[in-house]
Amino acid sequence: MSNLQETKIFNNKEAIIEGWYWALQSKELKIGKVVHADIMGKKLAIYRGKDGRPRALDAFCPHMGAHLAEGKVEGNELRCFFHHWKFSEKGELNDIPCRKSLQGVSAKIDSYPVEEKFGLIWIWTGKEAKRGLPYAPELKDLETDSLLGKPYIKECHPNVMMINAIDAHHFASVHKLPVDLNLVPTVIDSNTIEFSNITKVPNTNLLTKFIGKFYKGPLTYSLCYHNATTGTVTLGPDFLHFYIMFAIRTNKNGQAEGQTILLTKKRNGLIGKIFNAIVLRATRVVGNYFAKGDTEVFKTINFKFKTPIKEDYPIIKFIQHAEKQETCNWGYGKKVLNSDLITIDDKEITNLEMNISTGESNEQKIIL
Ligand code: FES
Ligand SMILES: [Fe+2]
Repeated sequence: MSNLQETKIFNNKEAIIEGWYWALQSKELKIGKVVHADIMGKKLAIYRGKDGRPRALDAFCPHMGAHLAEGKVEGNELRCFFHHWKFSEKGELNDIPCRKSLQGVSAKIDSYPVEEKFGLIWIWTGKEAKRGLPYAPELKDLETDSLLGKPYIKECHPNVMMINAIDAHHFASVHKLPVDLNLVPTVIDSNTIEFSNITKVPNTNLLTKFIGKFYKGPLTYSLCYHNATTGTVTLGPDFLHFYIMFAIRTNKNGQAEGQTILLTKKRNGLIGKIFNAIVLRATRVVGNYFAKGDTEVFKTINFKFKTPIKEDYPIIKFIQHAEKQETCNWGYGKKVLNSDLITIDDKEITNLEMNISTGESNEQKIIL
């Protein structure tokens, strides 16, 4: 057991949840090219084969340690710059030019699962991918069009940035949202949790009356989180939803390196293309509006959840979910051992929820 200030995984740079992380933009990797990458302390050579598919190998050649990103792509394989040893996409040595055969030499490097989607190259922080890429729930099985924002750096852990989107408390104080949100959590699986608003737009003044016309039910605002580090917002009126994915990883300085992805469902034909180009740019305006209000706070925040209150309930649920996710040995990340993980007793959660719903929460009562 632990309280909200003693989390093992949440807000801990050295606890990297095993999963998909954005590596670089697709346009940064041309066919037949290889690039240096440092993904959360893991040095990699990421290259794009002749067939157009990206691949990732551990950076350092098992012969003498030359960085393989100094080498050359040959077909779908990678040749080291130094003595020209060649490696397959699985990291198997398959050529030493100064020798006729490989007999007596055994050398292999690790390779990692790579996927390409939404204009980004993603990498799985382990040997085998156990899940699919992050998604926007309403677009999960649909083809999409996407647009990327500029990558950015913030002075806090990605988890802390993630909870901003479900911090309903600050929507009024910072973003001046005229509607109180009630974000209800649903755990989808061990690495996916959704929060959806259930409140309707009130009928209190001209502005809210006007906004209310665009929603038959509750005001659409939901968040879907993967690995506690990629979050996708769904919002907008009933006739047009906007989808904004925030993919964030740490760096060695403990900062958040983020990439915003604006999404919409694919629409065909010239009209569809023009429509999507407009929708994606409008989505960017919405995303910037939300991101901008918080810029200053993320430069200086020293996150410590000392005094949780009832209104912070979604954040507490997010932290609970993050604390149960599987971590990995990757770069500067060290796997959090099972014996260190927090076990959650159902009775305690029930008590917690009762405390929260009666507004009695305080530091001592909130147990993970
Ligand atoms: S260091 Fe790579 S082939 Fe020698
Ligand atoms: Fe915000």
